Amino acid sequence: MDRIERIVLVSAGALMAVFFAALVYAATQLRISVPTCITDVAPFTRGEVIDKGNHHYEVHMVAKMWAFDPPEVRVPPGSEIDLYLSALDVTHGLYIEHTNVNLMAVPGSVNGARFRLDTEGEYDTICHEYCGAGHQVMMGKFIVSAAAAAQPAAAVTGAALGQRLFEDKGCPACHSLDGSAGVGPTMQGIFGRTVELADGSTKTANAHYLEEAIREPGEEIVKGFPPAMPETPLTGDEIQALVAYLETLK
Ligand code: CUA
Repeated sequence: MDRIERIVLVSAGALMAVFFAALVYAATQLRISVPTCITDVAPFTRGEVIDKGNHHYEVHMVAKMWAFDPPEVRVPPGSEIDLYLSALDVTHGLYIEHTNVNLMAVPGSVNGARFRLDTEGEYDTICHEYCGAGHQVMMGKFIVSAAAAAQPAAAVTGAALGQRLFEDKGCPACHSLDGSAGVGPTMQGIFGRTVELADGSTKTANAHYLEEAIREPGEEIVKGFPPAMPETPLTGDEIQALVAYLETLK
């Protein structure tokens, strides 16, 4: 080997060793870690549409595997929208069709855009950054409609609330209702089904099992599926409503 070649190789190797040592030192001695996620901090923990009045809306959009929260934003034509986008888990993207809004959703930071929606119609929003097994189903919608503008929602409870939550939280992206397998098991006929877990044990999908599966999705993994389900912030009542809805899926 040429002498100069050897010098370059040795010094490159030494430099890498120094960098690695510095990394270990920073992580163990200085306790430096990656930044905490800003989505731990209100108001970026959950999606929200705030009506500022005068056709001005502030939208807090949270991207997560594999849905946008809120999945649907309804505004009247001529709306001025301030969009704040963050991510809960990994890097996602957000493109709103027929607009020039094209943002990255990065954990730990908030990206923003101001835009107008003048023409009535539905604007699909898609995730344009590969983010895992369910990337291709990660979609949302802006609906621009004079009729849909600011109709106060009637209070819903029980299985009806559960159905709405199931849809709003993006569950159908992974859990089909028609028996077909997706990223996660189908929800068709889930109630009372015998579930085989990854550790070989079996359980009956009763109310208790389903509540736990929603509350702590990483605890018991169903055999043959990836441990991909995110923890979703839900109240006890909301979890019960979801289970009530799942019970209706024959
Ligand atoms: Cu989120 Cu791709």
